Amino acid sequence: MHSAVDVIRAKRDGGQLSDAQIDWVVDAFTRGEVADEQMAALAMAIVWRGMTRHETARWTRAMIDSGQRLDFSGLGRPTVDKHSTGGVGDKITLPLSPLVAACGAAVPQLSGRGLGHTGGTLDKLEAIPGWQADLPVARMRELLADPKIGAVVCAAGADLAPADKRLYALRDVTGTVESIPLIASSIMSKKIAEGTGALVLDVKVGRGAFLKELAQARELATAMVELGTDAGVRTVALLTAMDTPLGHTAGNALEVCESLDVLAGGGPADVVDLTLALAREMLAQAGIDDIDPADALADGRAMDQWRAMVRAQGGDPDAPLPQARHTETLRAPVGGTLTRLDALDVGLAAWRLGAGRARQSDPVQAGAGIEMHAKPGDSISAGQPLLTLHTDTPDAFAPALELLADAFTIADADPEHLPLILDRITA
Ligand code: URA
Repeated sequence: MHSAVDVIRAKRDGGQLSDAQIDWVVDAFTRGEVADEQMAALAMAIVWRGMTRHETARWTRAMIDSGQRLDFSGLGRPTVDKHSTGGVGDKITLPLSPLVAACGAAVPQLSGRGLGHTGGTLDKLEAIPGWQADLPVARMRELLADPKIGAVVCAAGADLAPADKRLYALRDVTGTVESIPLIASSIMSKKIAEGTGALVLDVKVGRGAFLKELAQARELATAMVELGTDAGVRTVALLTAMDTPLGHTAGNALEVCESLDVLAGGGPADVVDLTLALAREMLAQAGIDDIDPADALADGRAMDQWRAMVRAQGGDPDAPLPQARHTETLRAPVGGTLTRLDALDVGLAAWRLGAGRARQSDPVQAGAGIEMHAKPGDSISAGQPLLTLHTDTPDAFAPALELLADAFTIADADPEHLPLILDRITA
């Protein structure tokens, strides 16, 4: 007979939880037998005491077993997905999923909505008129099996790792998000339950990321690669820089628009470079080594796949994208070189303008966000437009401009050149 208090005490005192204790506590919490306050106490004990690799793997498995595990084997094509830990202007899934599908893999991506200063992929796609995030699993399978579509980005159903849904909401309000084993098991339980055969993780590091230090990001990436590999999912992680926003836009419709530029063979260099680097990793994990994704981007195959993918989920790829009702432009106060554009400040300002939400139930504005007319390294003259703010709620301009006042540095110097890809973690 297990008792929640015994499990909490064992971890509080630095012990290792047994498989039976982990299976029981996760299951009993999902069923409501272990109370929220008991799980919160256990989560806090884990934050302080940590979990071993074995405990973390067992915890992850218990969370997967709390719901349904999807199975996309038998499609006739390998499945591979990408997960990003979240950044500002991170629209990479939009060009990447159709690109990888155009190269012959199937991409099942269960995605989330944004919370706080980083945007969510579903919020971005929902800016496309008609596009639907909710799909039954049988329809997901049909779309993945169709080689002209082959990529699905949709909301996770309530039965996918329900233990994680409850636990993540609890951690969010009890100061217990910051634990490598809890974060790794939370992310990987959803990705393993999603039924992908291979996974590429984009672990963001820097001011606009949830992890600010390279060492922490390396630790999280290693834990996630181990969890995926142990569960039979071929997993690799790239650590990528998130000190400045990706691309020239942050906001839902604005980012869809920029993704279309990338799919049309243009777009900002950092977005193109990261899309291609992740596509190459995904194709390698899927065992496809005879196709260069750069060709599929340049010759329009990825764009055709995107159009089919959007239509398959009810969207109109030709419909005009929503635009915010009001804009305001922030101009460069002096001339020189832009040496810093802070991802966190830009993300928070875009959120204030209405592009993000504070609570899961809040609506987002499709047209809100920030256009960046210059990126670090660019020369600018005094008075030149630096940022354009978009919103339907003009009262938001003042707080957003206040956040942006210290978001950039213009100097007579070259910016420190930081590479986009900082490390690669394999099993
Ligand atoms: N994202 C998740 O899904 N879970 C965490 O614990 C942190 C980030």
